[in-house]
Amino acid sequence: MTTTTAAVPEIAQASRDEARFLLPVYAHTPVEPVSGRGVVVETRDGRSLLDFYGGHAVALLGYRHPRLVAALAGQAEELFFQSNSVPLAVRARAAERLVAFGPEGLTRAFLVNSGAEANENALRLAFRATGRGRIVAVEGAFHGRTAAAAAVTHKAVEKWYAFPRTPFDVTFVPRGDLAALEAALAVGDVAAMIVEPIQGQAGAYDLGADYLKAARELTRAAGALLIFDEVQCGMGRTGHPFAAQAYGVTPDLLTVAKGLAGGFPAGAVLVSEAAAGDLKVGDLGTTFGGGPLACALIETVIDTIETEGLMARVRTLSRLIRDTCRVGPVTAIQGEGFLLGLRTTRPARQIVDELLDHGILSGTSGDPNIVRLLPPLVLEEAHVHTLARALAEIHP
Ligand SMILES: Cc1ncc(COP(=O)(O)O)c(C=O)c1O
Repeated sequence: MTTTTAAVPEIAQASRDEARFLLPVYAHTPVEPVSGRGVVVETRDGRSLLDFYGGHAVALLGYRHPRLVAALAGQAEELFFQSNSVPLAVRARAAERLVAFGPEGLTRAFLVNSGAEANENALRLAFRATGRGRIVAVEGAFHGRTAAAAAVTHKAVEKWYAFPRTPFDVTFVPRGDLAALEAALAVGDVAAMIVEPIQGQAGAYDLGADYLKAARELTRAAGALLIFDEVQCGMGRTGHPFAAQAYGVTPDLLTVAKGLAGGFPAGAVLVSEAAAGDLKVGDLGTTFGGGPLACALIETVIDTIETEGLMARVRTLSRLIRDTCRVGPVTAIQGEGFLLGLRTTRPARQIVDELLDHGILSGTSGDPNIVRLLPPLVLEEAHVHTLARALAEIHP
């Protein structure tokens, strides 16, 4: 969340203590969570909050999920860490589960630690496979803060990039504009198009099956690769394993992070055989990526999504949110599954603050009139009714 309301007295100390030693780069929401269970977090000052934001989509299975706690504790007891220079059964199992969960045709995984690192490596693979030097990205996109990931993040260079130059050429095309995409690809030097199938930070803008299918055809015809950034919209959040499957479009590379290990740092690039090309030892690498703790959690997260029927739950409850939450200040609802944007009559920041007064955590986005919802997949019907009631009580 990015609310900036002054901290209430009970949590002021934590905010002050952080401010003494940390760089002042984050605005604080005025709550200090101390524990959580399911979709509810308990705060230092004794409040129970319903979390419709999940720490930027990371708390995929909510808090203190018994299977995640057991997987983490069990793996920590056995082997806390070993690097990629030794084989690990838990890593092999995690990779197998992840590849099987991903779209057919992406047959390999490279395990990393974050969304930006996943995108950095996907871009590197695209340059390597094509020998070309330009990337096409979409206006409104957010892909991360490293030099390459930020270079394909819309407006990053103008706002916060800070590196003296970007490492390669980027053409941004307007969201949904196929003619602009075709023109950008026609230049002939494009290594890849990178796109969030549902733009998260922008405000839950769904690019839709038609656009993504056309992008697939256009990139293929231009000899460019297609990268889906599913860091925010992946891992069951659309009600399908990935948006790729939801829309029936298979990219050449797909990146995932955030909820991949349910809250433990983890990211991955899923790669087609063709995009993997003739990779050899030393071409990619990372110290922590594919560590045993992350891998035990990746395996368990995927197994839990499947065995607990969470994707069906997302589809049902997403429909319920659409049916019941267009009340109070909400005039429209966009996005897919559990990546939703509530369009509001008043600035989203006000609505986020007022929802917090009603005991509900939500988030803002790049669109000043969109409240973003990224609830854990274990959300229940009663929680949706609580949200709808709270919105109905908020002044339009
Ligand atoms: C779509 C998308 N890609 C990439 C990232 C960057 O991920 P990370 O912060 O783990 O580097 C984010 C983070 O918000 C994201 O939403």
